[in-house]
Amino acid sequence: MNNFDFHNPTRILFGKGRIADLNEQLGADAKVLILYGGGSAERTGVLAQVREALVGRTLIEFGGIEPNPRYATALKAVEMIGQNDVTFLLAVGGGSVIDATKFIAAAAMYDGDPWEILTSRGCVVTEAMPFATVLTLPATGSEMNSGAVITNPEKGAKLPFSSPHCYPVFSILDPETTYTLPARQIANGVVDPFVHIVEQYLTYPSDARVQDGFAETLLRTLIELGPKALQMPEDYNIRANLMWTATLALNGLIGAGVPQDWATHMIGHEITALNGTDHARTLAIVLPALLQDQRGPKRDKLLQYASNVWDIHDGSDDTRIDAAIDATRAFFEQMGIKTRLGDYDVGAAEIERIVTALQDHDMTTLGEHGAIAPSDARRILKAAA
Ligand code: NZQ
Ligand code: ZN
Repeated sequence: MNNFDFHNPTRILFGKGRIADLNEQLGADAKVLILYGGGSAERTGVLAQVREALVGRTLIEFGGIEPNPRYATALKAVEMIGQNDVTFLLAVGGGSVIDATKFIAAAAMYDGDPWEILTSRGCVVTEAMPFATVLTLPATGSEMNSGAVITNPEKGAKLPFSSPHCYPVFSILDPETTYTLPARQIANGVVDPFVHIVEQYLTYPSDARVQDGFAETLLRTLIELGPKALQMPEDYNIRANLMWTATLALNGLIGAGVPQDWATHMIGHEITALNGTDHARTLAIVLPALLQDQRGPKRDKLLQYASNVWDIHDGSDDTRIDAAIDATRAFFEQMGIKTRLGDYDVGAAEIERIVTALQDHDMTTLGEHGAIAPSDARRILKAAA
């Protein structure tokens, strides 16, 4: 196991009715800016629950944060903070609203050009405003981590950053808020955490028994409950287990002390930047092809994955690896997510644009060995056609 620091300061308030506990988490003098997305939080009544919990406080609201949140929109919120003496940010929504809030929290305290936050991947962030979240779409893990991804369509860029200053102070996770998710977002909310776990687990052995066992349990939970959530969207325990799995998939715990990959994510971000494909869908396209391509370096872990996650025990090593990759693709398709680039109108010309974008964004040494260059990404994308 590698050396690691593990410190996750985010308080989780989990369960039915927990939005009612919001007020007592905030300082008496906090001047709160509520941030939300395109209207789902209003339609589903979650915003009403938030306003009711905070009744008596002066609240300011900023709506309209897009899926794949945009840089220019975030900067408008930064302006609003300055004009209204806001002291605390409250994100109400999915990963996009939370990611935008993280960037806004950092940009509001940043002296230079905020674009530097993204191009330095967060290294320049030395402070951020305090913020919290009310999660309505379990998928990204953003509610309990310090990362965010911001899109700048003018520059054709979707760039990640992270900073130890960008953990939420607290996050409220009420599984009942997820009942209104359409099937497409339920599926995204299963496949995104699945790939988060794989990116931290399916690399090479580092004798990290707890991290591996934990990762395998989280993967098996998604495989068992993901399809059931599509069939029974208002089953509380299914939604509660999926919500907590998505949080644990990317809160630092299973990634502590182990090698990490993230090539699928970085290639996937370029597909979204190109044509707006949902984040989880880009991962479902890239991952099976990447696992096939990297089956040499990932051999030992692929065999462990076949056995401990998919119960594949028969046949030669190569047969079992093929079966595990096939099972992964079949699971994504079972969730209703297509796994081929052709399903998303991405052809040879678009693949070249993705490869160029990886080069332009300095994504040139991807994967757990830093060995995946843009030319390797081209081969992987062609295999995903
Ligand atoms: O915008 P509104 O109207 O609120 O609707 C949203 C949006 O259209 C809707 N929605 C959210 N909660 C709902 C709901 N609809 C009905 N009922 C509810 N309870 O769902 C749509 C998608 O929301 P979005 O927040 O975009 O989805 P997700 O949570 O999947 O977030 C995706 C973003 O997170 C980034 C992705 O790149 C992408 O930009 N990621 C962030 C990560 C992180 N911070 O750690 C890691 C991930 O790998 C990922 O890159
Ligand atoms: Zn993801």
